[in-house]
Amino acid sequence: SSGNAEAGAVVFRRCMACHKVGPDAMNGVGPVLNAVVGRAAGAYPDYSYSAANKNSGLTWDELTLATYLRAPRKLVPGTKMTFAGLSKDQEIADVIAYLKQFNAQ
Ligand code: HEM
Repeated sequence: SSGNAEAGAVVFRRCMACHKVGPDAMNGVGPVLNAVVGRAAGAYPDYSYSAANKNSGLTWDELTLATYLRAPRKLVPGTKMTFAGLSKDQEIADVIAYLKQFNAQ
């Protein structure tokens, strides 16, 4: 993708109240997002997902993530992620590029 991981680190500040990444990350309001790119929805261990997320059948490839992050409740009706979404394609690409850094640790 055309995302910039450094810019994505700034975008990710908007996610950090609920999500952690990195070697010491723990589940909180939302699940840990290490290795989320390419993962099946609802698969992070020991996190209590909504049925809507867990049974969505989605895999978080880059296109699906981009669709989700623009309008989470549109792609996953009933999700408990109470986040309105990101409005700019560039910030979506950037935050995905940032998340990809936590796929190989
Ligand atoms: C779930 C990303 C912001 C709360 C998820 C998932 C992703 C994601 C990819 C699905 C994870 C999985 O299936 O394993 C992001 C990103 C954010 C963001 C990139 C910022 C741009 C937030 C915020 C909150 C939040 C601000 C809290 C207000 C949650 C919760 C879930 C979730 C509770 C679980 C959803 C469910 O089980 O229905 N998020 N999120 N997220 N997120 Fe976020």
